Amino acid sequence: MAKKMSEADCFVRTDNQTYFQVDRRAYTSRAVWQRELQCIFDVCWLYACHASELVQNNSFLTRQIGGRPVLILRDEHGQVRAFLNSCSHRGAVVCQEERGERRKFTCPYHGWSYNQKGELVSMPGRDAYGDDKATRRYRMMALELDNYRGFYFIRFSKGQRSLQAYLDGACMYINLICDQSEADLEIIPGSHRHAMHANWKLLAENGVDAYHLPIAHSRFLRWIDEIGTNPISHKRTGVGLDLGNGHSVITSGPPSTGRPIAHWSPLFPEEMKGVVKKRFNRLVDCFGEERAREIAKNNRSLFIFPNVVFNDILGLNIRTFFPVSPDRVNITVWGAGFGDETSAERESRVSSLISFIGPVGFGTPTLKS
Ligand code: FES
Repeated sequence: MAKKMSEADCFVRTDNQTYFQVDRRAYTSRAVWQRELQCIFDVCWLYACHASELVQNNSFLTRQIGGRPVLILRDEHGQVRAFLNSCSHRGAVVCQEERGERRKFTCPYHGWSYNQKGELVSMPGRDAYGDDKATRRYRMMALELDNYRGFYFIRFSKGQRSLQAYLDGACMYINLICDQSEADLEIIPGSHRHAMHANWKLLAENGVDAYHLPIAHSRFLRWIDEIGTNPISHKRTGVGLDLGNGHSVITSGPPSTGRPIAHWSPLFPEEMKGVVKKRFNRLVDCFGEERAREIAKNNRSLFIFPNVVFNDILGLNIRTFFPVSPDRVNITVWGAGFGDETSAERESRVSSLISFIGPVGFGTPTLKS
């Protein structure tokens, strides 16, 4: 009896040995994109925010996640909660601000108000809506939320797998990022939002594609050579690894582009040399030489399926994206650092990062050198 074809079989051609080809309709078809929204973005854990963005009790932030408006808050007792930012009355966006501090959220359309548990606590014309039992059902929709080492993820539908089980092999690489300092990792205020006229899977793939670096980013490499990097050092070695559940990582060293923790390069001011060395020595004290080298002397780009990339390279950035159509992706990028950095270190981290990944960074490909 002929084997039944799966959906993937329709798009992938492979002999499982010498070639693997994906039909280009997988990147252009509206039907495929709609299936991806249902089968991937509606069921997977999706990156939401970092704990450092909700430090104070009663603080909140709002953002689009998985194509939906989401409200995330730290309540008066310190518990972090997430809700669909949509009124249970007519579906208006309840909280329109990006961030702030508040105990109550009032919908701007007809004035229904919700507490930090998402419960409806007041509404104009209350008498017309029946008794408490009737109004208790009008609440904001709570979302599943969990965190791993301060990185919060949400999920739109209930699933069996915990966040940690979902992250699987990616946990080890998140640990390598978080262990760079005894101080807490923190998101640097501000973000870079942009869009790409392409299918989202190309961006996912790009996050763990080092093959393009010497070609697409040759101008950046020439520039760092001009400021004193030894060109031979660009010939680093590394590996790409499947981490399970669709996650993957590329890791390579030694990092010719430098790392704020703890590998100096001509991208950083001369006076940072001592600080960088001291930080590396502290890592050796904490973790031993081998793990210290792994933390400090290797670049890594970690892709967590389906839509977040942690670039732990010449700075640390977190890039998340969502396909608003088969051929358009909205992208948000945050920079991150550590709480014990001096202002000079922070400045150096940010400026070296944006020199490559920023809005007008060298990472922007050029057609002609
Ligand atoms: Fe929110 Fe009516 S839609 S109060």
